[in-house]
Amino acid sequence: MTQSNFKKNILCIGAGYVGGPTMTVIANKCPEYKVTIVDISKERIAAWNSDRLPIFEPGLEERVLKVRGKNLFFSTDIDTCINQADIIFVSVNTPTKNFGEGAGKAVDLQFIEQTARRIKENSSSNKIVVEKSTLPVRAAETLDTILHSGNNKIQFEILSNPEFMAEGTGIRDMEFPDRVLIGSKDTPTGLAARQELIDLYSHWVPEKNLITTNLWSSELSKLVSNAFLAQRISSINSIAAICEATEADVTEVSNAVGRDSRIGAKFLNAGPGFGGSCFRKDILNLVYLSEYYQLNEVASFWEQVVSLNDYQMERYVKRILQAMFNTLVDKKLAVLGFAFKPDTGDTRDAPAIYICKRLLEEKACLRITDPHALENARKDLQGIDDNNVEYIIDPYKAAEGVHGIALITDWAEYSQLDYQKIFDKMEKPAFIFDGRNHLNHRELFDIGFNVYAVGKAPLTHI
Ligand code: NAD
Ligand code: UGA
Repeated sequence: MTQSNFKKNILCIGAGYVGGPTMTVIANKCPEYKVTIVDISKERIAAWNSDRLPIFEPGLEERVLKVRGKNLFFSTDIDTCINQADIIFVSVNTPTKNFGEGAGKAVDLQFIEQTARRIKENSSSNKIVVEKSTLPVRAAETLDTILHSGNNKIQFEILSNPEFMAEGTGIRDMEFPDRVLIGSKDTPTGLAARQELIDLYSHWVPEKNLITTNLWSSELSKLVSNAFLAQRISSINSIAAICEATEADVTEVSNAVGRDSRIGAKFLNAGPGFGGSCFRKDILNLVYLSEYYQLNEVASFWEQVVSLNDYQMERYVKRILQAMFNTLVDKKLAVLGFAFKPDTGDTRDAPAIYICKRLLEEKACLRITDPHALENARKDLQGIDDNNVEYIIDPYKAAEGVHGIALITDWAEYSQLDYQKIFDKMEKPAFIFDGRNHLNHRELFDIGFNVYAVGKAPLTHI
């Protein structure tokens, strides 16, 4: 038990997109638990303690304000907090390795290992260590070895509890999860630790939504969930290419296909390619794992999901180039949306990064707009043809005098814009490339636009 009036001390190492929101939900739902989030980044912790949170996620701010300073705390004193904790969630980043063995595919485990060593060095009581980060299968074995190495008498019980929330809907996903997955060892101490986590989640998650498995199944299920989701997007994007060649309509096809209850309608929206910090990384992790076990056919099956995604982003650029008479030199393009999806300011691995770089290579001048991601966009494109990129918060200003509009993120407000007003101030012929099938194409065509929507025949006046 802990030193205060709280029932337990929960610690989360890593105050990022997962650590911050997940712990905020736990603190809101479990007032008798003290929840502390630590990070090596002083700036991030300062931001969590300020009026301007480091990440934008609908519903997050009010929940932080409700419990911050009561049972939710943000700190940089990692060592003291480790020592005081009963349960430690590890939510540090696990990016793709960009050097040495496995570069470009394997997970860079340095942050996880540093965390494990720090937990070991600063613990004077037994602890439950929970893998919240997405990790390769059997990572718990490595953690176990590090934590129990040397003369340490402290017992650490390792659980796997991967996070399935998606950005933009993170709070809802955590408050009403389809499932919470807990992997543990099948030993008395493993099962007791598992029960502690069940007790925690039972505050708000119905029992039927709590799934328990062994450690390796839990670790693998997280990778497989992301791989399956991404695979559906690549599947429909491959069909979008066929639609553009044949005048079939991808929206009609995905509707017809998704109405089969065995297939289901979700994650069948064609687009410019999937982005976000995890799909690519987690599939490549699965590819690396398959190669490691010499399952080469399995590896190439999953690798194709990523290749198709690269192809889709390039196809979007080529369509713009071809439609605009095969030259973009000195042409102005408004880019509507830079975040990898709406309702987030996150731009990690956003298709917009690749697409904008390619458009700049073609010597286009870009006017980028996004309601929440312009700060990140600036960082992502820093040093790349700075003179030809402008960042403009007002979409009307961004579109003034441009030759074409490329919609890359389906922010709700972009479907509400006055496109007649925009058209009137554009160069003619005016082009619009709806990378998300987010707009009313017939209306745009009637206004006078040449409309190129993903997976659909173009509507043109030329
Ligand atoms: P993030 O980069 O936003 O946050 C990670 C944080 O960990 C950073 O603030 C970093 O400073 C901190 N950190 C790194 N090493 C540390 C150390 N040794 N001690 C203390 N802090 C340290 O990453 P994220 O998006 O929150 O993702 C975290 C994990 O969750 C990843 O494994 C990711 O795959 C997984 N995940 C992410 C999402 C998502 O939507 N972003 C969803 C599900 C799972
Ligand atoms: C994804 C998963 O949905 C989460 O379950 C998982 O926890 C998370 O990854 C993770 O491990 O990080 P996230 O990347 O936040 O969540 O967002 P998604 O809604 O999955 O979208 C990912 C990308 O796919 C976006 O670029 C989105 O625009 C694109 N997408 C999604 C499509 O192009 N078409 C679709 O039909 C759905």
